[in-house]
Amino acid sequence: MRVAIIGQGYVGLTIAVGAAGAGHVVIGFDVNKNLVSQLNSGISHIEGVSDSKLKGFLSSDTYTGTTDASSINGCDVIVIAVPTPLTESREPDLSYVHAAVELIQNNVRGPTLIINESTSYPGTLRKEIAARITSVNHLYASSPERVDPGNTQWGTKNTPRLIGGLSPEAVSKAKEFYSSFCDTVIEVSSPEVAEAAKIFENTFRQVNIALVNEFAQIADALGISGREVLDAAATKPYGFMEFNPGPGVGGHCIPVDPTYLAYVANEVGVPATFIKRANEVNLAMPAYVVKRVIAGAGGSVKGKSVVVVGVSYKANVADTRETPAASVIDLLREAGASVTWHDPLVGSWRGESSTELGACDVAVVVTKHEVVSVADIKKSSYVFDCTGSITGADGI
Ligand SMILES: NC(=O)c1ccc[n+]([C@@H]2O[C@H](COP(=O)([O-])OP(=O)(O)OC[C@H]3O[C@@H](n4cnc5c(N)ncnc54)[C@H](O)[C@@H]3O)[C@@H](O)[C@H]2O)c1
Repeated sequence: MRVAIIGQGYVGLTIAVGAAGAGHVVIGFDVNKNLVSQLNSGISHIEGVSDSKLKGFLSSDTYTGTTDASSINGCDVIVIAVPTPLTESREPDLSYVHAAVELIQNNVRGPTLIINESTSYPGTLRKEIAARITSVNHLYASSPERVDPGNTQWGTKNTPRLIGGLSPEAVSKAKEFYSSFCDTVIEVSSPEVAEAAKIFENTFRQVNIALVNEFAQIADALGISGREVLDAAATKPYGFMEFNPGPGVGGHCIPVDPTYLAYVANEVGVPATFIKRANEVNLAMPAYVVKRVIAGAGGSVKGKSVVVVGVSYKANVADTRETPAASVIDLLREAGASVTWHDPLVGSWRGESSTELGACDVAVVVTKHEVVSVADIKKSSYVFDCTGSITGADGI
């Protein structure tokens, strides 16, 4: 099949490579010119796609990056994989999805299977995509992406894929497409079910992370180790799933997607109280971390050198979107600390660069990448660990 993928970020490039690997001819469309020329010279920007793999597909002409909108015409399948963030007032921002819709409306002249992989609330495919494309009678399916960047065990091939479509023909063609590079394809009765399943999965994580974050604070106040309690509870072989506390949640999914569900819940008059409370708890974690750091560092960090270790939102990835490290750093600076940060995967961020680990007064470990040495972290006089990976350190 000839496949166009709109958006070449974490999701779009991952699918592009999956489809190219199955022998499809893939056009990776993106509005970011620098990104496209980087991809066309064989440089991948995501952990799960190696440069050598990308170069292989480029040289066999099974993958081409482009900013030329007209090249999405004449494809068998078009996949939408654009950002779905929140606005400043924390409401769903579908402007990127609408821009992709406009692109299809203006450039695609024959019936095509349009698949949405961008995460959004139930009703998006039907009302925000299909209803807005009036030029051609396309087929429409929803297959929300479940990729977990950096996860070496679960990827596009072995993570089961949900598909819901606006017609049986759309479902059947979408199944044919995904079956060519995914082991398990599961049909659900409507696109709304597929869309809702994806945001419920992320809401499940958001709420459970908030629960353990709150529990970590209770355990600390009780003078017991929250992590030891959670490990002990996890010995129960049924009815329990372990989540770990941390400095807050980051990335494109967990801090954002539940708010899409809360938005539609509100529209239909059923307030999503768990999501609201979980957001409050998770967003308050950086302040809790800084409060604990100040207490652990002798009551003040004023004038002290503090290094924040790991500024991406999770271990072994370079993604800094919505990272709680930003608030941790800002709050430490407000408390008078002289703050630097160390993250070899990120390198530069917010106009600052990663510094080498040395003998600081305090090290606050927000994210622990495998490549960062514990011995180097321990050069600091006091270590506060938000990850549970540094033996003997204070932390949550
Ligand atoms: N990152 C994840 O782990 C993950 C996992 C599952 C689902 N998702 C969802 O997938 C979607 C995409 O997320 P992502 O992480 O790939 O985002 P991303 O920011 O990594 O990539 C999005 C890409 O889309 C491009 N883009 C923006 N507007 C465009 C337009 N009008 N036309 C063409 N390209 C455009 C951007 O330049 C960018 O390269 C979101 O809805 C997200 O919630 C993300």
